[in-house]
Amino acid sequence: MNVIEVKDVWQIYDNRIVLERLNINIAEGSFVSIVGPSGCGKTTLLRMLMSEEHASRGSILLDGKPLSREPTVDRGVVFQRYSVFPHLTVLGNILLPLELRSSRVCGKFFGARRRSAIEDARTMLEHVGLRAAAPLYPAQLSGGMQQRLALAQALMAKPRVLLLDEPFSALDPGTRADIHVLTKRLWEETKMTIVMVTHDISEAFRLGTRVIVLERPSPDEPGKGARITHDIPVRARQTATPDKLKIA
Ligand SMILES: Nc1ncnc2c1ncn2[C@@H]1O[C@H](COP(=O)(O)OP(=O)(O)O)[C@@H](O)[C@H]1O
Ligand SMILES: [Mg+2]
Repeated sequence: MNVIEVKDVWQIYDNRIVLERLNINIAEGSFVSIVGPSGCGKTTLLRMLMSEEHASRGSILLDGKPLSREPTVDRGVVFQRYSVFPHLTVLGNILLPLELRSSRVCGKFFGARRRSAIEDARTMLEHVGLRAAAPLYPAQLSGGMQQRLALAQALMAKPRVLLLDEPFSALDPGTRADIHVLTKRLWEETKMTIVMVTHDISEAFRLGTRVIVLERPSPDEPGKGARITHDIPVRARQTATPDKLKIA
């Protein structure tokens, strides 16, 4: 089943075509990496998936229905930086999605409901290795910890789709490798549908079950926007190594 269907979508700013003719069906539970050079329109595409931007032409469906005009909790997002609230502690940031959902449902967030939410929040923090950081503020965390917090916060809202916009590109290589492992694990455990844009092709292949390449045509076609030039299924990596098989 497709969670997202992008149908002949174009984005045109001031008569300049940024994206053209995009058609993408995103299957439930897949991890789609969208890779392309800087400025080709990756963030624009993600902003359209979030309803922060609207397609100039074409349509986008979520679970078969046109996207709402405004962002909603069914689409979680993590940016390269500043996805969490600086004035809330780590625990406060993780509790926020639960608090918002609860207050929408019954207008209050006290007593047993709040205690159980705090328990869920602490479990999530444990999961992403931030339990000891619960009372700290985002500014007191390293870049890698901030991005783990942003991922955890987005997942607490249990979105239908998690949208990632170059979430790891500001991290040093070691930290990035660790958070790749964590992201893959969270994706496997939650069976969530993830769409990640990146300009790092190795990251796209390491994490994605499918890699979509967005590119502008050659410079001698100036009036054209970026479009999909490759759509590559990624085979799951073998877990048994050939060496082990030889020994056996
Ligand atoms: N709201 C906007 N108005 C006008 N131009 C925009 C707007 N948003 C993005 N663009 C332009 O669209 C192009 C693609 O931008 P972007 O999606 O940020 O690229 P990427 O994320 O791939 O680096 C850029 O040339 C950018 O200047
Ligand atoms: Mg971008």
